[in-house]
Amino acid sequence: DQTIQDELISSIRTITDYPKEGILFRDITTLLGNARAFRRAVDALVQPWAGSKVDQIAGIEARGFILGGAVAHQLSAGFVPIRKKGKLPHETVRIAYSLEYGLDEMEMHKDAIQPGDRVILVDDLIATGGTAEAACKLLKSMGANIVAACFIVDLPDLGGRKKLEELSVPVRTLVEFPGH
Ligand code: PRP
Ligand code: MG
Repeated sequence: DQTIQDELISSIRTITDYPKEGILFRDITTLLGNARAFRRAVDALVQPWAGSKVDQIAGIEARGFILGGAVAHQLSAGFVPIRKKGKLPHETVRIAYSLEYGLDEMEMHKDAIQPGDRVILVDDLIATGGTAEAACKLLKSMGANIVAACFIVDLPDLGGRKKLEELSVPVRTLVEFPGH
């Protein structure tokens, strides 16, 4: 409903020219620090799956960890960290993905997902969708059944949602900020 969207939008701080000139940075630390907004965001994210079976929540380092842990608790699911390369101690599967400048790699433990597991991917924000797309490919390579990918913020003009829908992953976002 409109009320919660207004509340979430007004709890997100916008920083101009960060990390570089011309960028409007949507800073969710102010949402996280607002007890009511944080709870409402987590409740709204999980609402479609309340009471249904979800095996694992996969959260993308770093901001996806903050929300993913809360979502996993709320749905009584496990939590799987998808990490930047070199951080996980056991055997991993790894995928390269492109950022605004250059390439990076993310990975997850090989035994973190069982084939057929019902998994929800969680991150704070979807922009170009490159990060979430790579995470979905990694999860699918392990046989995950990705029930949905959830984000608080969508930057719809950057086209991320479409990338995930092309992988047949349903996308749930709570608020949109038009523009780049
Ligand atoms: C940000 C954000 C998303 C990603 C979205 O993370 O938290 O994970 O970018 O961008 P995309 O849709 O264009 O791929 P960032 O890489 O800045 O790292 P952080 O979460 O560790 O701060
Ligand atoms: Mg991130």
